[in-house]
Amino acid sequence: MKRIIAPSVLAADFGHLERDVRMVDRSAADWVHVDVMDGLFVPNISFGFPVLKAIRRATTKLVDVHLMIVDPERYVARFAHDGADWVTFHLEATHDAEHCIHLIRESGAKVGVSIKPKTAVETLRPILQEVDMVLIMSVEPGFGGQQFIPESLDRIRELRRMAEELNPTLQIEVDGGISKENAGALFEAGANVLVAGSSVFKAEDPELEIKQMLEA
Ligand code: DX5
Ligand code: ZN
Repeated sequence: MKRIIAPSVLAADFGHLERDVRMVDRSAADWVHVDVMDGLFVPNISFGFPVLKAIRRATTKLVDVHLMIVDPERYVARFAHDGADWVTFHLEATHDAEHCIHLIRESGAKVGVSIKPKTAVETLRPILQEVDMVLIMSVEPGFGGQQFIPESLDRIRELRRMAEELNPTLQIEVDGGISKENAGALFEAGANVLVAGSSVFKAEDPELEIKQMLEA
């Protein structure tokens, strides 16, 4: 499965958003990760549609939207319309995951579902065949710059085993506390998409950092 790095613009300099997104565009990263927070699902508010549109205009890479919002079914189609190639919602944020999946599919975007660190991997089983990707959170969602939770590695292995049986082409994305120091172990455990905020945007040479993560 192809290795993909998805720099998270949450750690970008919003005063120079276009410059920072263009850096990703030039780099070896294939996706741009966009964190949307509503102040309810997580205790933080990030940004919404106008910022997504500005990011969309600044890159030809795939735009990977991570929704940390309650009742995501209200908005998934609009995120797809405004530029998301991938729309990922949280399993804990909705009462109707099937409906959410259906709406994303209908909008033409790829479907991702995410779980927080304390949600059992097993809860994904009933919908695993209907999604293109699972995003395993390796920190509690809401903030960049947190420490990677080591138990996430076992969760990725468990999910990869489940996917081999139910959905062999499933992409497994991991998000939170990722850098070139743990990228190799994450790929080895069965993840193929790594999100990285601080480690990329705070690096002296972000493009080199991305390359080193890919080769980790
Ligand atoms: C956290 C977000 C992450 C965040 C990762 O809720 O989902 O995408 O930007 O930031 P780092 O890489 O700094 O942990
Ligand atoms: Zn994220």
